[in-house]
Amino acid sequence: MATRMKLKLKTVFVMYFMVSLMGLIYALMQLGQRCDCTEHITVKDRTISRLQEELHRLKDVIKNSEATRRPPKQPARGPTPTVFVITPTYARLVQKAELTRLSQTFLHVPQLHWIVVEDSPQKTPLVSDLLKKSGLIYTHLHVPTAKDQKLQEGDPNWLKPRGVQQRNEGLRWLREDRRAEAGADNYGVVYFADDDNTYSLQVFEEMRSTQRVSVWPVGLVGGMKYERPVVEGGKVVRFHTGWRPNRPFPMDMAGFAVSLKLVLANPDACFDGNAPMGFLESSFLQGLVTIDELEPKADNCTKVLVWHTRTEKPKMKREEAMQAQGLGSDPALEV
Ligand SMILES: *[C@@H]1O[C@H](CO)[C@@H](O)[C@H](O)[C@H]1NC(C)=O
Repeated sequence: MATRMKLKLKTVFVMYFMVSLMGLIYALMQLGQRCDCTEHITVKDRTISRLQEELHRLKDVIKNSEATRRPPKQPARGPTPTVFVITPTYARLVQKAELTRLSQTFLHVPQLHWIVVEDSPQKTPLVSDLLKKSGLIYTHLHVPTAKDQKLQEGDPNWLKPRGVQQRNEGLRWLREDRRAEAGADNYGVVYFADDDNTYSLQVFEEMRSTQRVSVWPVGLVGGMKYERPVVEGGKVVRFHTGWRPNRPFPMDMAGFAVSLKLVLANPDACFDGNAPMGFLESSFLQGLVTIDELEPKADNCTKVLVWHTRTEKPKMKREEAMQAQGLGSDPALEV
């Protein structure tokens, strides 16, 4: 039994050896032979040219996909217009939270210049520090609201328009600064962004191409799901609003932008703090543009890209109770 096994193993080994040897001899013979090389070369050439074609095709595919992935570039009409955002702000518990949120939205917007106008007799350290650390291009201004224009404690919000003198101060600075900028092309657009609204990044790209005044819907405003200009044949024909649609421009502040050129060409256009309720936007736009000239954005005003959100006033009942016991939060800790 054992010998037979041995024998078998031996046979297998010999056969393996023979087969290997034959393979080796065959390979050596092949090496020595002259082959029909022209055929091999043409096959190689064809393979190479096919691979080159494939490479070109892939390069095209990559080029095309890059072109579609990039945001549509401004056509070669000059530099990207700057978006000048004017934000009125005033001291309150949620101010830092609001400005932080807003500034971090703006960090995602190219070519944005933030003009922050405080309703205060001086620039406050809170806003100064926040702006310094923001990483944004900014201008910090301040103007206190005149006593007779100010809301008194307990007045409803709608009694007097807020931020009027601050927005006008922003306009004043723009007119002075941009005039002084000798030879500036004044490509730009001006937008009034309150510090509590919510802004999609897309709305800034929509407004960037504004020629005179561009418009779009605003969500959660005026007691409605949205208000918007109604567009027919590419023109604004009326407004979807729940209240006094016959106002000259029944729009929210967040729903329009004005080209810098138009602002500079109309040095007297500003917001009228004495305008009746709901007529503040109209007081500014009336002298600048007609309904017919409005440029609808956001897919002919069918997309909501900005929301008139309101931040709830935080309750301080426990803080007050703790303060009464001398255990209030550290006033030196900025919130
Ligand atoms: C807006 O409407 C006009 C006229 O109907 C049309 O030509 C245009 O393509 C529309 N634009 C968009 C972005 O939907």
